[in-house]
Amino acid sequence: MSGEIRPLIDIRGVRKQFRSRSGTFLEALTDTSLAVQSKQFVCIVGPSGCGKSTLLRMIAGLETISGGAITIDGVPITGPRRDIGLVFQSPVLLPWRTILKNILVPAEVLKLDSAASLRRGHDLLHLVGLDGFADRYPDELSGGMRQRAAIARALMHDPAILLMDEPFGALDALTREAMNLELLRIWQASTKTVVLVTHSIEEAILLSDKVAVFSPRPGFIRELIDVPIARPRSAATRSDPVFIRLAERLRSHFEASAAA
Ligand SMILES: Nc1ncnc2c1ncn2[C@@H]1O[C@H](COP(=O)(O)OP(=O)(O)OP(=O)(O)O)[C@@H](O)[C@H]1O
Ligand SMILES: [Mg+2]
Repeated sequence: MSGEIRPLIDIRGVRKQFRSRSGTFLEALTDTSLAVQSKQFVCIVGPSGCGKSTLLRMIAGLETISGGAITIDGVPITGPRRDIGLVFQSPVLLPWRTILKNILVPAEVLKLDSAASLRRGHDLLHLVGLDGFADRYPDELSGGMRQRAAIARALMHDPAILLMDEPFGALDALTREAMNLELLRIWQASTKTVVLVTHSIEEAILLSDKVAVFSPRPGFIRELIDVPIARPRSAATRSDPVFIRLAERLRSHFEASAAA
């Protein structure tokens, strides 16, 4: 063993096989290993169907593991944990509850102080740009607004680990850039550990300490790229020569896997 500190999220040789209704097996992930240190920001990029969402769901304890192991702080995952906030690829909001009441769900489940949670709920609505929508219902919001509500909900109980599955995919480019910077600010202020799936190479580099590039299905990590760009980062980071060089390198990976 080297003298490295134990990773907060330790994914070792993980496999995932799905059994279809007709009884055939589908290998979604194969031999995937990734160590995420506490307070690190790691992005996952890779072609559609390579198992990114599956991996996130396994870390969240929502999906069984077919082989290998995932531990958090040395403890094997057996089911959902309180210290994880999860943003799904498509926002899952309860249609019969208002936006504010949706955001308050984790606080209710964890029986947090209701007055403080209500204040935090309003603060989070402001953070994600949904002021004035507290009493609306999910079907009265656009897809991007629903996704922002889901992000606010994931932050409600201030989890140490945030797992985000293409959280900004449904947003327009300008809002997406603003949310990127906002997420960086939140992460810097609260030093959470974040694993975020994205299809955007620029987003991955802007946000991450490390980018894990997945192969096509069955997915495994084809390359792990360090992002040695100083923090705090800003919109200007995109014109940093290191940023541009890394973007080119990542793009060539995608082209290589598309051609494979
Ligand atoms: N519940 C399931 N039952 C059977 N197969 C599944 C299930 N969930 C995912 N799969 C399969 O596993 C593979 C990986 O799916 P996953 O959703 O993890 O991909 P992804 O990398 O997130 O793709 P995308 O970028 O399109 O979101 C796919 O081939 C998919 O068909
Ligand atoms: Mg997915």
